[in-house]
Amino acid sequence: MSTMAAFCRTAAFLLRPAKALPYTLTAARSCSSGGQYQYILVEKKGANQNVGFIQLNRPKALNALCDGLMTEMGQALDAFESDSQVGAIVITGSEKAFAAGADIKEMQNRTFQECYGGNFLAHWNRVSTVKKPVIAAVNGFALGGGCELAMMCDIIYAGEKAQFGQPEILLGTIPGAGGTQRLTRAVGKSLAMEMVLTGDRISAQEAKASGLVSKVYPTAQLVEEAIKCGEKIAGNSKLVSSMAKEAVNAAYELSLAEGNRLEKRLFHSTFATADRKEGMTAFVEKRKAIFEDK
Ligand code: CAA
Repeated sequence: MSTMAAFCRTAAFLLRPAKALPYTLTAARSCSSGGQYQYILVEKKGANQNVGFIQLNRPKALNALCDGLMTEMGQALDAFESDSQVGAIVITGSEKAFAAGADIKEMQNRTFQECYGGNFLAHWNRVSTVKKPVIAAVNGFALGGGCELAMMCDIIYAGEKAQFGQPEILLGTIPGAGGTQRLTRAVGKSLAMEMVLTGDRISAQEAKASGLVSKVYPTAQLVEEAIKCGEKIAGNSKLVSSMAKEAVNAAYELSLAEGNRLEKRLFHSTFATADRKEGMTAFVEKRKAIFEDK
């Protein structure tokens, strides 16, 4: 049985935002208004249940990112963000499609007034503001908003048959969830420009060579490897991991001098944590550090 099949067979845990409520074993295909999810599967993975796991679940639409799906994504991320057990989050799709983009059928008749007035797609930004590290495990198509969703994550792992692209130009529009900005920073101007202007896709191998993804795995192994990476990250101090993430992300926003200054201040701040003391003491005492996220 493939890894993905095993995941599909796993019953999804209902994830409730309120900390006090227990995780309940349930089928995950009911209405989001009742606190359950219609478009995503949400559970906790890893030996210590410390990896939040979100699987896009609109197989018939190749995980097109409809408004409801991205709203649920925000709710699931909020819940993982406030769950002290969770130290990293994995977002994945199916073997055929991570996500084939924003939902074109939903967008087809939208007007400029609606888009501008309602700040269309603004709520997608929640993915990029999560403090905990987020790993995208991309099998199959990651197109348009699907590629943008992956790029909002901190680490991208790809399955060997993954394809990345920004084909919005073929629909008479342009990327609207960070594609022109994050892709350019990731792969450089020439390749980003070529992808955005032609709509051509790149393979997992080209994505790796251009720096868009950090690792490529066989399709069936991908999710397991992403969870392993999540477990590794979650085993460190969650507090300090968030500071490290903040510092790396600042490299995209700030000048070198400003970024180095922020890094230095965050580095200094780690000395206010018990985990920094524990980490260095454990090294000196030749034992494994026990981090308590404080
Ligand atoms: N929105 C809505 N529905 C979509 C979709 C999307 N982005 N992508 C695929 N689907 C639907 C198809 O309409 C089809 O549904 P029906 O069976 O009801 O007709 C179903 O998913 C399967 O799709 P295909 O039959 O097309 O499957 P395929 O294997 O032949 O092709 C594909 C796969 C190449 C990914 C093709 O579906 C495709 O090109 N999809 C659109 C990709 C795209 O243009 N993405 C960008 C969207 S715009 C955007 O994302 C804006 C932004 O920046 C935020």
